Amino acid sequence: MLKFITPLIACSLFIGTAYADDDLKERAQNSKKVVKEFMGQLKGELQAGMKAGGPINAISVCKDKAPGIAKSLSNKYGWDIARTSLKTRNTSNAPDAWETKVLNEFEARKAKGEAVKPMAYFEAVENNGKKSFRFMKAIPTGEVCLKCHGDNIAPPIKAKLQELYPDDKATGFKLGDIRGAFTITQPM
Ligand code: HEC
Repeated sequence: MLKFITPLIACSLFIGTAYADDDLKERAQNSKKVVKEFMGQLKGELQAGMKAGGPINAISVCKDKAPGIAKSLSNKYGWDIARTSLKTRNTSNAPDAWETKVLNEFEARKAKGEAVKPMAYFEAVENNGKKSFRFMKAIPTGEVCLKCHGDNIAPPIKAKLQELYPDDKATGFKLGDIRGAFTITQPM
């Protein structure tokens, strides 16, 4: 009897793990799509804001529109969707322990030569008995970002940023640096 049962158990364990893997991969794929949606909307708003009134005007896009888009996507999908960074401008975007760990790993992966743009990480985690799927995708620093996150920020922009964000740590970035990451939590 044991002869049959053992492979049966082994087999169902295997199928169980494979199923769990597939589930995580599917969640990661869906997360990537939502990050694209977030990025597309943000880029559109940022470009429109810059066109309408330059970077000073676009600051309000980042201040009001970015959290607004995050909120509307969170409601749409029933997930928690946000942006975070090791060096935040808005302290309410500060990373939690898990996000800090992943952001540090992203820096280590970049240091080893991995490209920033496709860099992502996901994991099923358990917190206080509650299981959730967590996903992060790195955000590279592009040319346009330097106007507000770089080394040589124009004085009027600098002044406005200091007024709005007295604890601003999100300056001094260079082209290609990891500016931060999109972060998604899905209940499981
Ligand atoms: C016009 C100025 C401006 C430009 C250009 C800009 N940002 Fe920002 N960025 C901001 C402001 C203001 C915030 C704070 C938003 C908030 O209050 O949530 C911010 C916040 C962020 C955050 C959230 C984490 C944090 O620091 O609080 C990320 C990530 C980020 N920006 C990435 C980028 C990237 C990538 C680009 C280029 C594609 C970019 N930004 C271009 C002004 C700008």
